[in-house]
Amino acid sequence: MPSSTTDMTAAPADEPRGEDAPLRLAAHASPGLSGTATIPGDKSVSHRALIFGTLAVGETRITGLLEGEDVLDTARAMRAFGAAVTRDGPGAWRVQGVGTGALAEPADVIDCGNSGTGVRLIMGMMATCPISATFTGDGSLRHRPMGRVLDPLALFGARAVGRRGGLLPLTLVGAEAPVPVRYATPMASAQVKSAVLLAGLNAPGETVVIEREATRDHTERMLMAAGAEVSVSETPEGHAIALTGRPELRPLTVAVPRDPSSAAFPVAAALVSEGAEVLVPGICLNPTRAGFYTTLAEMGAEIAHENPREEGGEPVADLRVRFSALAGVEVPPERAPSMIDEYPMLACLAASAEGPTVMRGIAELRVKESDRIAATVAGLRANGVAVDEHEDGMTVHGRGPGSVPGGGLVATHLDHRIAMAFLVMGLGARAPVTVDDARPIATSFPDFRTLMAGLGARIQPAG
Ligand code: S3P
Repeated sequence: MPSSTTDMTAAPADEPRGEDAPLRLAAHASPGLSGTATIPGDKSVSHRALIFGTLAVGETRITGLLEGEDVLDTARAMRAFGAAVTRDGPGAWRVQGVGTGALAEPADVIDCGNSGTGVRLIMGMMATCPISATFTGDGSLRHRPMGRVLDPLALFGARAVGRRGGLLPLTLVGAEAPVPVRYATPMASAQVKSAVLLAGLNAPGETVVIEREATRDHTERMLMAAGAEVSVSETPEGHAIALTGRPELRPLTVAVPRDPSSAAFPVAAALVSEGAEVLVPGICLNPTRAGFYTTLAEMGAEIAHENPREEGGEPVADLRVRFSALAGVEVPPERAPSMIDEYPMLACLAASAEGPTVMRGIAELRVKESDRIAATVAGLRANGVAVDEHEDGMTVHGRGPGSVPGGGLVATHLDHRIAMAFLVMGLGARAPVTVDDARPIATSFPDFRTLMAGLGARIQPAG
């Protein structure tokens, strides 16, 4: 449910907004899932469409925008920076932009709710403008590291004052006379890369970001579509993206593709539901996002990619998924950036695969909406699945199809993906799997329960 700023001030610090009490849900075994799962718009593209709409001069038109709380928080923030943001109907939005150097100074605190992408990209967007803004978020976001964007933004001339350890709330004072930057990201992070590129837009000269492993490239694609001068090259240091500052960005017409990270849940549900066949149309399969689907193919999942085509500048296909006997695999660590949000779901699927599944090189999961390695390990153990925890990953000891015991209670820690992953696991488990609070699902997939119920999934309030 969309929330208002007033909801936030009323909510205790460690609770999501919206409903007052935690929403405990239980997922019961649901064989024979069938039908069509219509997935909402991609979260990453939705945030960027609103931000680029604000930075362009003229009117950006968006269709298929994800109307989850994270993106609605970004829409509110864009209004605070001076854009006129209008909703014409479900998923149909317009943004009247102000131009890169002409952001207004927000009159109040910018509350980004649960969204790391929102706050980090917006800080990048304003860091080279002569304005200040104060940012905060919910109990999850206020624990997440902001130093990873504040460090490169300081190189442009921006200054931040916040809590120790670079935590929100913090105030960012934009650079009066920004200089361009050359920055090698110390971790694989599209959020950091995007914050630097967005800051580079209002710095004179060439800003360069270098990443050792390529991460999702929606920012680069949108910059190019809007007319910015961007070049991408492979250098001895890594994948380098160079941007010429101070372009006039043209407004775009953005058809947001359907989110592969949200699609992961009904896809996985079909894989564990005996006799299931589910169609998941129009899923974005941008190679920087599709690692989960590559891994599923290696595990023996029966997923047909039908009708491959291009939509809104992204490769998409319809996925037809059938119940499958999966085999455990070792996921190559270099694949991590292309499936970073899908590890909780993969780990829950691996529980019903034959043999171990090894996931390494994913220490970044410890600084997501929750420590996703710890939360996943605890949830699996609570449901009778053996798992080894590593500093940079986990190994799940699969029990084979249909043999996950279930029956446990999972702590979701304000993390939408932990909630959805374990509910999906419950659909194929012997006893129901319960999550302690499903409210955070509204941040990225508000219609999750309705959509899953439409396929025949039994996900119900639990006492
Ligand atoms: C995102 C990047 C990823 C991902 C997040 C969305 C983005 O984070 O986990 O859900 O839209 O740029 P990192 O870039 O920090 O890995």
